[in-house]
Amino acid sequence: MSKDKVQIFDTTLRDGEQVPGCKLDAKQKLIIAERLDLLGVDVIEAGFPISSPGDFNSVMEISKLVKNATVCGLTRAVKKDIEVAAEAVKYAKRPRIHTGIGTSESHIKHKFNSNKEQIIERAVAAVKYAKTFVEDVEFYAEDAGRTDNEFLAKVCSAVVKAGATVLNIPDTTGYCLPEEYGAKMKYLYENVEGIHKAILSCHCHNDLGLATANSIAGVMNGARQIECTINGIGERAGNTSLEEVVMILRQHPNLNLDTDINSKLLYDTSLMVSNKMGMPVQPNKAIVGANAFAHSSGIHQDGVIKNRETYEIIDPADVGVNESSIVLTARSGRAALAYRAKNIGYELTKTQLDVVYTEFLNYADRKKEVVDEDIHEIISVCKIEIET
Ligand code: KIV
Ligand code: ZN
Repeated sequence: MSKDKVQIFDTTLRDGEQVPGCKLDAKQKLIIAERLDLLGVDVIEAGFPISSPGDFNSVMEISKLVKNATVCGLTRAVKKDIEVAAEAVKYAKRPRIHTGIGTSESHIKHKFNSNKEQIIERAVAAVKYAKTFVEDVEFYAEDAGRTDNEFLAKVCSAVVKAGATVLNIPDTTGYCLPEEYGAKMKYLYENVEGIHKAILSCHCHNDLGLATANSIAGVMNGARQIECTINGIGERAGNTSLEEVVMILRQHPNLNLDTDINSKLLYDTSLMVSNKMGMPVQPNKAIVGANAFAHSSGIHQDGVIKNRETYEIIDPADVGVNESSIVLTARSGRAALAYRAKNIGYELTKTQLDVVYTEFLNYADRKKEVVDEDIHEIISVCKIEIET
């Protein structure tokens, strides 16, 4: 059975770039956009054109440069925003305007001092206006995670009727539980009038560490687009991490969902974004963290040396990592030491290994990690004749 495609909407250059203390210049944004296109994302949200002349120019330059992906600019439900975004994306092969408004009680009352009827009117007017510039209009219902489902379905039905092609359901504050977010998608899939004319999109924030789980719950319940960023960067605790959702769908073929991402480029792309933004990736980050394929305890090392699949669910080569690493620490066993020694040219007999291992443990208790240079030294300290 052929798999259903989940579109990847990358917002590294818009929501991701809102990381406190990080800023990309125009040239860096172009380099990242080109790499995202090569990676195979379906949509690049290039920026928020009304926010500054610099952002406007970046969105325009990215629109001219990108060959395959749709290029999208964000707006509020404000005429001037939409006009400026339309101008910024006009050179794109596939332009999209992403407009919207807050729909939760809190946004309606505190942000807009408005009411539900007026919010629907503004949403519809924004979509209709954006449609006068581009065919592809995505609507976001900001704080949809905390919006009552019935009202949300009413807003979505109205904007689909006005021509919206994508319905973005953001969990703006990262509040939802996966079950709740999945149920919201299911409700919308079943209750939005004319839903066959649009696709539902997941846009999740990571305030409770649930962005990835919520996005997966969303696509398991009818959504067909995930909005995400490289390394999960974004405001506060960040957005859904692109590499995580891509690999979850790939590692779980029974979900019958997949993306067009070339996963072999994930690791390099992660490095590139981390370097350009000056934002290190946490070592234990899933898929792209420095320790994602590193094994340091004796039991795991012994298993991985016998057969990688004992403790690895992903072949590192599939995400562009050369190979798994066996890290030598005081928790490592003989198998790991023999393996690493062999890699640098020492074939140890069982008796030799016993001697070297005792010395190794003394070293390892003093040092956090034993590296190749240390192994040479340990072997020379042991003063044993070894075939090399
Ligand atoms: O989190 C959010 O609600 C957003 C919208 C502006 C799409 O980023
Ligand atoms: Zn967001």
